[in-house]
Amino acid sequence: MPKTTNTSNSSTIDFDEVKKDFSIFSTYQKDSQQPLHYLDSAASGQKPDCVVNVIANCYRKNYGPVHRGLYPLAENASEQYEVSRQTIANFINSPSHNNIVFTRSATEAINLVASGWAKQQVHPGDEIWVSQMEHHSNFLPWQRVCQERSAHLRVIPLDSFGRLDLAKATGLFGEKTRLIAVTHVSNVLGVVNPIEKLVALADSHSIPVLVDAAQSIGHLTLDVQKLNCDFLVASAHKMCGPTGVGLLYAKHDRLVETEPLLLGGGMVDEVSIEGSSWADIPARFEAGSPNLVGVLGFAAAATYLDDIGREQIQDRVRVLTRLAANALAKIEGVIVYGEDSDDNRAGIISFNIDGIHPHDVAQIAGERGVAIRAGHHCCQPLMAYLGVSSTARASFSFYNNEDDISALVAAIHETKKIFGS
Ligand code: ALA
Repeated sequence: MPKTTNTSNSSTIDFDEVKKDFSIFSTYQKDSQQPLHYLDSAASGQKPDCVVNVIANCYRKNYGPVHRGLYPLAENASEQYEVSRQTIANFINSPSHNNIVFTRSATEAINLVASGWAKQQVHPGDEIWVSQMEHHSNFLPWQRVCQERSAHLRVIPLDSFGRLDLAKATGLFGEKTRLIAVTHVSNVLGVVNPIEKLVALADSHSIPVLVDAAQSIGHLTLDVQKLNCDFLVASAHKMCGPTGVGLLYAKHDRLVETEPLLLGGGMVDEVSIEGSSWADIPARFEAGSPNLVGVLGFAAAATYLDDIGREQIQDRVRVLTRLAANALAKIEGVIVYGEDSDDNRAGIISFNIDGIHPHDVAQIAGERGVAIRAGHHCCQPLMAYLGVSSTARASFSFYNNEDDISALVAAIHETKKIFGS
């Protein structure tokens, strides 16, 4: 639950208190004799105790199969699963719970749209557009659809700050475009893309847009009706929820056009030797035993974030990102990639230290309790654009604080000292 302190005009969240909701920080400190400066929330977020407890309590007290039994434990499980669907629908302001499909991950959700929808809609000579900053998850499925359908994969280029350069994307809104698939926030640069503007333009040409919200769902307010996108995907583990569960939001008409990716139990209406028919939407997209604990944890995480306040989380992450970007920019030899405007960088900073491999930076930082990621971040087309093979990346969540930034800065200085630069 949020902890507030009252100032003369308003209530502000005491994020030091909020951090106590995450047992991992005290446990790590006790076990490792040093604090954990977790700056890798873009890879996966930490989990508050309330989410862990919901999962543990389900297994301990309430566990049963979903949509498969008539005894009380099973009926309760089915009800909790569907209540969670409504919670997630509310979290992104979906018009109905029936627009929400639970998947294993954002990646699986994109693959469902690629295999189940795009393959029927894309024909030889058509185009699918992605951007140069896409994660491989929002690149490879479209590359395959284009290869299989003799269509063309087109790429929205970036400007010198790593922003989408729509003016240079000739043909983006052309009559051959069947889909535009873009990330909301770059997992490397932290750039926030102008999704509403892009969708409005695409909509005026009747072009559907898929939004990869994996990096925004944890700290930006998402409103699918305002965004007006056709598809949106995200995963729970990047918003304080468990791993192994994600979501596909899609407009009803798009779901009607989509063929199920997985066939099996729970997604059928009738099966006979002659032929079969599918269950209603969204059940037809959720073959196999539903991930009850994952979905309960997902909903608990959504409720937790809403209780703190999405605007407050967004502001907190923005302030931390700005502080960190300013601090890194002051260190000689540190190259920070992407946006120059602090307010358009959401929680993620990629950087390199001149002459030092980012794996060395991450390892030395890690030994000091500073957890950052280094590598190509599953974004090799973006690395090609940046002219590097990898970067170091610090990513922030609301449970971070200024100490984490100081620790990162100290680790960078230490790394430079070790390498004599
Ligand atoms: N996509 C995640 C990241 O950027 C795993 O680290």
